[in-house]
Amino acid sequence: VGPQGPEEAALVGVAVLGAGSVGSRLVRELRDAPGHMELRLVSDVDAGCDGLGLARELGVETSSSGVEAVLERADVAIVFDATSASAHVEHAGRLRAAGKAAIDLTPSATGALAVPLVNLAERAREDDINLLSCPAQVAIPIVRAVTRLGPALYAETVSTLASASVGPATRRHIDEFTAVTARGLEELGGAEHGKSILILSPAEPPVAMRTTVYVVPEVAVGEQEVVGAVRAAVAEMQRLVPGYRLRGEPVLDEKDTPWGRRPTVAVSLDVVGAGDAGLGRCGNLDVAAAAARLAGEEVALRVLRSRQVVA
Ligand SMILES: NC(=O)c1ccc[n+]([C@@H]2O[C@H](COP(=O)([O-])OP(=O)(O)OC[C@H]3O[C@@H](n4cnc5c(N)ncnc54)[C@H](O)[C@@H]3O)[C@@H](O)[C@H]2O)c1
Repeated sequence: VGPQGPEEAALVGVAVLGAGSVGSRLVRELRDAPGHMELRLVSDVDAGCDGLGLARELGVETSSSGVEAVLERADVAIVFDATSASAHVEHAGRLRAAGKAAIDLTPSATGALAVPLVNLAERAREDDINLLSCPAQVAIPIVRAVTRLGPALYAETVSTLASASVGPATRRHIDEFTAVTARGLEELGGAEHGKSILILSPAEPPVAMRTTVYVVPEVAVGEQEVVGAVRAAVAEMQRLVPGYRLRGEPVLDEKDTPWGRRPTVAVSLDVVGAGDAGLGRCGNLDVAAAAARLAGEEVALRVLRSRQVVA
């Protein structure tokens, strides 16, 4: 057990790097459901950002020295990077060299792409796990549910997010955001071609996340099978984010497409955050934080198993 007591030894130290919109939500998520993790540091480069204030209120140590502060901490094994795609490209090699696992919430795509309910278990051994984007986390489980029934030529996601929930770091990398989402629809969703469309809504109070997923299966799929598979995926996602829900039954149709007249499947979802008002309703923050927590827990369990082997 070493210098720590047995209880601390059963926990893995984690840090949140980047305490903006999504980093702040993740700090709350780790407070509410830490699993085998202990949040030991929240670090940003902006000493005045809201997330550092929140962490201090919760009694978590903070720093405004960015990644440097994280690298100094031998008691931190897992780093959640919620900075920006370009910053993570810089952080990735340094975290790896320091022997720390990264859970990357940015669309940098430097690491292994993972969506918890689709392929996370296979990714837990990676030292840099990339969570793509919130539309990807919402849409890919649905696309995968449909492509398990038969191959698909195309998958598209159109997501509306509240502008107030999307910080400057997200806006600076919209191209990476849409590119990694489209890539995820193909590589993890199983569609031959993927496309992602993002709409930012300035409405006040901020709107809940809304995503429509379109799939063009190669050949007709049975309506009952599709509805059953989609409902099962929604039920699984609700265990992660209770406000993830269908806006109506999946719509099966036949339409003219670039591949000729084809069957189509359209699934419309709301993702309502668990908070009371304002940004609390923005399910994009909930889904990203929940996916990050699940990924962190998988890696924490792996770290604990390797500690037992060493002991
Ligand atoms: N907002 C969302 O719904 C959402 C959901 C999932 C993933 N993401 C991704 O998470 C990342 C953060 O998004 P956001 O909306 O929270 O942006 P944001 O601008 O609100 O937050 C980014 C924070 O990171 C800090 N930062 C920037 N560079 C840094 C560095 N090198 N070291 C330490 N801190 C640094 C900034 O000071 C800021 O506090 C983006 O890559 C975005 O694509 C956002």
